[in-house]
Amino acid sequence: MQAATSILRYYKFFRQRNASTVLDYGAGKLRNALFLSGEGFDVFAADLPEQIERIKGEPAVGRLAGLIEATQLERTRLNVDLVISNYVFNIIPDGREKQHYLKNTVRNLHRGGYLLVEVRCRQNLVPCGSNCTHYMKCSSCVKTYSHEELDKLVIPYGFSHICHYYRHRTLAVVYQLAENHD
Ligand SMILES: C[S@@+](CC[C@H](N)C(=O)[O-])C[C@H]1O[C@@H](n2cnc3c(N)ncnc32)[C@H](O)[C@@H]1O
Repeated sequence: MQAATSILRYYKFFRQRNASTVLDYGAGKLRNALFLSGEGFDVFAADLPEQIERIKGEPAVGRLAGLIEATQLERTRLNVDLVISNYVFNIIPDGREKQHYLKNTVRNLHRGGYLLVEVRCRQNLVPCGSNCTHYMKCSSCVKTYSHEELDKLVIPYGFSHICHYYRHRTLAVVYQLAENHD
């Protein structure tokens, strides 16, 4: 499993900025967490309890700094240098769940730390209709973003936009949390 393009593109940048601890928030099958761990980062991987249950027995998990049920993140203060969020925003419904995700991100991130968000980006898709049973999963109705839309969601939590790129159907944005964020 290859790491996501944004990880391959930016991990040296984060290292140059002295990032050494990472929270992979919505880690899935751990492709990004294990890549970064192989590159010398200390990586915590968080996901929904049912996904943690699926991956917790895998031997590679031993290379991580920790495996965390996402529900715990409202109580932890990991103080990581970097939070990575790859293709998670696309599937979390707008509203309270997204707010909760962003609050947990800030809570567990070092002041001045980085947030990397990678998402499917806007394209001219025809919606497949209200009777689609694969809501948020099928390629026609998964929520997509432009960088302006992501900025509107993320910047109010104390972040500034550092850089972004579009490539094929994806968008990646790097944010930095204000040094004096309270
Ligand atoms: C499309 S997968 C991406 C996995 C991984 N980031 C990658 O790039 O391979 C999305 C992941 O986000 C997780 N997820 C969904 N909602 C979440 C939430 N509220 N908190 C944490 N993880 C969540 C899912 O369980 C799934 O593992």
